[in-house]
Amino acid sequence: MEQTVSAATRLSGTLELPADKSISHRAAMFAALADGTSVIGGFSDAADPQSTLKCLRQLGVPIRHEDQKVIIRGVGRHGLRSPGQLLDCGNSGTTMRLLSGIIGGAGIEATLVGDNSLSRRPMRRIIDPLQSMGIAIQAQDDNFPPLHISRKGPLKPIRFDLPIASAQLKSCVLLAGLFGDNPTEVIEHLPSRDHTERLLGLQIHDKDDGRIIISEGSQFIPTQNYQVPGDFSAAAFWLVAGSIVPDSHIALKEVGINPTRSSALNILERMGASIRMEREHLAGAEPVADLVVDYHDLKATVIHPEEVPNCIDEIPILAVAMAFAEGESRIEGAAELRFKESDRLKAVAEFLQEAGIQVLERKDGLVIHGNGGAPVNAARFNSYDDHRIAMAAGILALRSDSPSIIEKAECVSISYPAFWNNLTNLTNSR
Ligand code: S3P
Repeated sequence: MEQTVSAATRLSGTLELPADKSISHRAAMFAALADGTSVIGGFSDAADPQSTLKCLRQLGVPIRHEDQKVIIRGVGRHGLRSPGQLLDCGNSGTTMRLLSGIIGGAGIEATLVGDNSLSRRPMRRIIDPLQSMGIAIQAQDDNFPPLHISRKGPLKPIRFDLPIASAQLKSCVLLAGLFGDNPTEVIEHLPSRDHTERLLGLQIHDKDDGRIIISEGSQFIPTQNYQVPGDFSAAAFWLVAGSIVPDSHIALKEVGINPTRSSALNILERMGASIRMEREHLAGAEPVADLVVDYHDLKATVIHPEEVPNCIDEIPILAVAMAFAEGESRIEGAAELRFKESDRLKAVAEFLQEAGIQVLERKDGLVIHGNGGAPVNAARFNSYDDHRIAMAAGILALRSDSPSIIEKAECVSISYPAFWNNLTNLTNSR
């Protein structure tokens, strides 16, 4: 599908966002491993979390839907069964990497497959630690899906120093560790999103250069009974849209503002954005607030390597904010973006160039010469079938000098099925 986006004169309205994707995946997986029934409110209807539900059903977990809620009857950590068929993780890296830890830890046997994009994403990062825990994994070229997982001998707990700041890798090892007789320890130097630790209530020890997170067989796995907050990564598109389209005013309800996810707020604030936080409260283990954004001129900034893990999914849309800022912005230490649903450094550099913005693509980042808030060239933007690239290009197009086209725009359903509808509604409301 091609989506046409016309220049907007103003955006205004109030939005409910899709439920947080990372929390939805985890809520479902942890509910499956718990003893007892979980009632999860507002579970995401996006394709990625739905892939997780489908795989869990194949692993023998009873799941049903009732009035906007997902009800999961936990089978306990020893109740999963080997599926008769392939587990299709679709486009979802989180489904594949976290389930690999659970399947290997549980000692069942399964083969996990993904779509074209997921089949090109690196899995060596999880294969190495899982193999050292005694889990057998066969992969294409020892790195890529399909992954065939089994275990003959006992599970060996490990002490694992994270070589990259990745919540998927951290969670994979910790989830395998939940099945061990002795503690598995994961050492994290730069904090990545901590939903796994919060939702499972894992033990954490701070040390001088980071923290140690512990999981073990005796860890209690709580049922998951809460309303999943709105996805901050979805909110970020509107925070930038409201900041670059003159005269805009957008309110976003019940957004997750976990600090390990929301460094885009600090980055946009230092660029001069006008964002207000209201009604801060806790939803279960996660902090939530309403966010209100008003149009404001932006100035350039630098995203430093240590900030990257806490805004990893927001970088494409932050790059759009930088395109309209005054001055030269830089994104540093973001090589991980090359291993997402597409090579996001390349895809972002390409769509900004198409729009007439000067960009330099570096090995691990971008240098963006902002145009100070002027309109950009209309273009036909390639989404690379990557939901966050399609949405970032869609927001950029709101400031193009005539209508632009986003190609393969249906991919937004991976994380945000209502995105194009929401965009139209914000454009039309007075
Ligand atoms: C996620 C972690 C991040 C993020 C992804 C979701 C998660 O990936 O990009 O969209 O839910 O754990 P990495 O851990 O590979 O950085």
